[in-house]
Amino acid sequence: MITILTNISSLVTVRSNGATSRVGTLMQDVGEIRNGAVVHNGSEILWVGQASELPPAYLDGATVIDCTGRTVMPGFVDSHTHMVFAGSRSHEFARRLAGASYAEIAAEGGGILTTMKAVRHASVDELAEVGRRLVDSAVRHGSTTIEIKSGYGLDTDSELRLLEAAGRLKQEGRAHIHVTFLGAHAVPPEWKHDPEGYVDLVINEMLPAVSQQGIAEFCDVFTDQGFFTRQQSTRILLAARKHGLKLKVHADEIALVGASDMAAELGCISADHLEHSTIREVQLLRDAGVVCTLLPGTAYTLRLPFPDARMMIQQGAIVALATDCNPGSCFTENMQTILSLACINMRMSIEEAITAATLNGAAALGISNITGSIEAGKRPDVVIYDVPRYHDVVYHFGTNQCFAQV
Ligand code: NIG
Ligand code: FE
Repeated sequence: MITILTNISSLVTVRSNGATSRVGTLMQDVGEIRNGAVVHNGSEILWVGQASELPPAYLDGATVIDCTGRTVMPGFVDSHTHMVFAGSRSHEFARRLAGASYAEIAAEGGGILTTMKAVRHASVDELAEVGRRLVDSAVRHGSTTIEIKSGYGLDTDSELRLLEAAGRLKQEGRAHIHVTFLGAHAVPPEWKHDPEGYVDLVINEMLPAVSQQGIAEFCDVFTDQGFFTRQQSTRILLAARKHGLKLKVHADEIALVGASDMAAELGCISADHLEHSTIREVQLLRDAGVVCTLLPGTAYTLRLPFPDARMMIQQGAIVALATDCNPGSCFTENMQTILSLACINMRMSIEEAITAATLNGAAALGISNITGSIEAGKRPDVVIYDVPRYHDVVYHFGTNQCFAQV
């Protein structure tokens, strides 16, 4: 069954001609075609070009969608979320507005541990339902590929339930889902006095069970002040690699504790957050080919310094953008909002933000050969916006410009 989108006023292809990411000044080139057309067969893009050059042979029996006055872009690849959880942290949000800090609330046993308590009482059905609503909403806002982490169970059974819930969403095909095990998200209360014991549990009990379950593709660690040290994180990630998982790290969010050094040393696929990274960390990540995933919604919500995206782009690092959607530090599933924050607060151009949220997001998941741009041979992850030009998706902020996915 052939589908043709034609008369597209602004077709943003982000074409890369086989490159798995775009860096530096190349991020500026989003391969826009004015009055473009895209042909796909439901599983693969067959043709992309000027509407006037559309090969007539495709028209026979095809579904034709007229996109006059509309913009078409690759679906966003939201490569960092915590969309499967239970409960709410709105009361903590209100406390933070009244002056409490994220670290203070965490030190009192709130924060991630508040969500942990709710998750430990939740069934797979309940966890999946929370994730389902967020995934469906993310899709309505233009995301087609979404990574989801565990990390709110912090015991073997609860972590497996979170992964199972994420696995269910993947099976349901609501979006292309990639699953990450984040057992080392925080030290749970029962291990408070023996964090090394918890690290051993992650390595000796959780990782084998996670590997046996077969849903997770990545292992992530929160390497930061008050969470896991570089040494503990290295132990966990090396063990995860033995189980065939690809490696990610929450790095340089609260303080510089060597998380980026570790990410470069281990060859992680991405290092995420990077609010406090300096040129030194960024050069290490760049030289090791680690994707720098920036989460401006978190800096906004927690009033952290925004990551220095301009410096990272200037250094030629691979910069990606993601939501970090989670109940504590950034509760949005809307990638359009993330682009707006990236442009206004990190001084990225609209083109850089689009590249970071599509092709480079795909690189953060190791799937830029499959998605992240609109090119023949790739998956038809194609989103229509009800605006005449791609600039409007960022310019007209705070409302949903997404029209449909095809
Ligand atoms: O990515 N930094 C660590 N973890 C999450 C926050 C999780 C939470 O507060 O629930 C993050 O920001
Ligand atoms: Fe996160």
